[in-house]
Amino acid sequence: MNVRPSQKIMLSAVQPSHQLTLGNYLGALKNWIKLQHDYECIFFAVDLHALTVKRDPAQLKEQTYQAVATYIASGIHPDQAILFIQSHVPEHAELSWILNCFTYMGELGRMTQYKDKSTQQGKNIPAGLFTYPVLMAADILLYQTHLVPVGEDQKQHLEITRDLAIRINHLYGENLFTVPEIYSPPIGARIMSLQNPQIKMSKSDPDPNGVIYLMDSDDQIKKKFKRAVTDSGQEIIYRNDQPGIKNLIDISCALTGKTPEEWVNQYRGKQYGHLKIETADRVIETIAPIRSKTAELLKDRNYLDALLKQGAHRAREKAQRTLSRVYDKIGCVGGRY
Ligand code: TRP
Repeated sequence: MNVRPSQKIMLSAVQPSHQLTLGNYLGALKNWIKLQHDYECIFFAVDLHALTVKRDPAQLKEQTYQAVATYIASGIHPDQAILFIQSHVPEHAELSWILNCFTYMGELGRMTQYKDKSTQQGKNIPAGLFTYPVLMAADILLYQTHLVPVGEDQKQHLEITRDLAIRINHLYGENLFTVPEIYSPPIGARIMSLQNPQIKMSKSDPDPNGVIYLMDSDDQIKKKFKRAVTDSGQEIIYRNDQPGIKNLIDISCALTGKTPEEWVNQYRGKQYGHLKIETADRVIETIAPIRSKTAELLKDRNYLDALLKQGAHRAREKAQRTLSRVYDKIGCVGGRY
């Protein structure tokens, strides 16, 4: 096992809703893999969060396994990182209830994700959609997390987590919870839809042509890139008013670590078609090995189950330490653990 420069905790999670996308890989997973040697890492699939909108049970189970298999296939070392499924660690739901009692309706009502998702739901809005950020705060605070790498859309939830930690520390003792920091991935890792480069490439996008799924076949990837919406100009330049081309360049940058200028130079005098085909090839080069490793892992459920059991065990040990201190401080009679 590597010796890490710090024993600080980094934690992140993905919702096992739909399949993971190239956006998830480049915006999240790839960073986690880079950082996993510098921190003690905790990664999990948030199946309880996924329940905030209607799910098909069989599909949720499958996508949860798929998320975990993809983490490992992408390069997360399950013997180093703590890898598990949220519902296997009941302390998440327990702490979530406690945090609910310290969270204000007003602050939850201001969350843009809640506003967006509740509008899509129509009349019967599940309370879980409203308290979603509280469960997320529990996810993070249970482990005395220092660093949370999340995308732009989750920053508001991180802010509420920090506010809760500070609020409760203030009431019950300064070091009950570590106040987590937000880690923002480097620029260029924000991957947009291939069909509408104004919006993020999202696993819940109703137009599958805009989204590259990590399980897409080589052919599907090629087709989607061929059909990618580009801009009205002719030249390959990296500018905000050419968001389609900019997105293709950003994808190439995120895959290779090269700068936009280097790609623009490489494509001088070439046409959009070249950039599309070659970006597709670069994506395939990265994704194809992850896809086949994921498929291989998914065939061996016993292996995955054993690994997840071990992950949950390691997670619970840490989670219980925090939770028993919390119960004690807020006035619940101890002795359970
Ligand atoms: N809400 C996050 C998302 O949709 C997923 C998530 C749940 C998460 N709990 C977390 C991310 C804790 C980081 C830390 O992307």
